[in-house]
Amino acid sequence: MKICLVGSILRHTVESDEGTYSGWGGMTESAIAPFAALLDPGSVVYFVGSVGAEDLEEVRDFYKQHYPFVDTRGIRVNLAGTDHHHGTKHFVKRKIQVEPTTFEHIEPFIHDVDIVVFNFGNIDDIDPAAIKKVKENSSALVYVDVHRKPFGADEQGYMFVRGWQGWENYLGYADVVQMDKQECEALFNKKIQTLYDSALCAKAVLDAGAKTALMTLGAKGILLAYKDHKYIYAHIPAVPCAVKDTTGCGDAMAAGYLVAWHEGASPVDAAKKGALMGAVNCEFVGYMKGVDRRMIEERMPSDFAHTPLNLESDIPRNIFV
Ligand SMILES: Nc1ncnc2c1ncn2[C@@H]1O[C@H](COP(=O)(O)OP(=O)(O)OP(=O)(O)O)[C@@H](O)[C@H]1O
Ligand SMILES: [Mg+2]
Repeated sequence: MKICLVGSILRHTVESDEGTYSGWGGMTESAIAPFAALLDPGSVVYFVGSVGAEDLEEVRDFYKQHYPFVDTRGIRVNLAGTDHHHGTKHFVKRKIQVEPTTFEHIEPFIHDVDIVVFNFGNIDDIDPAAIKKVKENSSALVYVDVHRKPFGADEQGYMFVRGWQGWENYLGYADVVQMDKQECEALFNKKIQTLYDSALCAKAVLDAGAKTALMTLGAKGILLAYKDHKYIYAHIPAVPCAVKDTTGCGDAMAAGYLVAWHEGASPVDAAKKGALMGAVNCEFVGYMKGVDRRMIEERMPSDFAHTPLNLESDIPRNIFV
């Protein structure tokens, strides 16, 4: 499997109830660790992003040592240096704004890949116009994690809800769009209280042109919506796990979904693999380590049922998230 990952590299200090985790953050490790558990030998991930000149060799060595399937030729220098995020999973202070990654940076890596993942891990770290250009110039599945795009940062670096004017013109070109509950509330400027609220946002994403929406809901699982002649909605519950730290669950979910999709799974089954990977990630402070595919598959609940949702019925309105 070949993947182009367009994302952010940053130093990361996460405070959680289980203690403080410090390391390479953004997508540097969170997106790579779950792929490491799932990918076949011979798979390649082309990472496209930037880091301060002072850290370029360290980041390349980090991948060489821990994740040798990552091809680092797409990592370039950000002149203002390396960003550092400090905070909890949802409330973060950043150090600098990185220069956005553009289509020109991504283009060399899109021609023989199965999937291109865009993850706006650092506010305006990617030119969103690149989504459409990749769709037009590659046969890869285009996957977008909205992540921090509907947020801004003030002069001190504290993040605030900003929304994303004209998001339809970008996300409409994605095959799959992922966002968590806080990101959904920021993007749509409304409270998400029930599955119905989440489904209406997913519907807006499909109306814009995307084919699939994965609205992640933390311990409440995933609201999946996709087009199959008509719009289909389903709720995938979370997989039971011993939660230590939920940082990186979204990236773990994405890896589970994408590997299953590549192997021919239906959207519901791929989302179940995503939920399983999210649960496994909860059991680590930081990102999953020392996990292989067999260990993950053994954790798949034998009675893992999803709930098909009809937006006309009361069920989605009565399930709080
Ligand atoms: N407490 C939990 N228990 C079980 N599964 C969880 C839990 N938290 C998250 N998950 C699983 O992981 C998925 C993604 O989690 P979440 O909605 O927190 O993503 P996220 O906020 O994008 O994460 P991040 O951006 O830190 O990677 C959920 O849809 C769910 O399936
Ligand atoms: Mg996320």
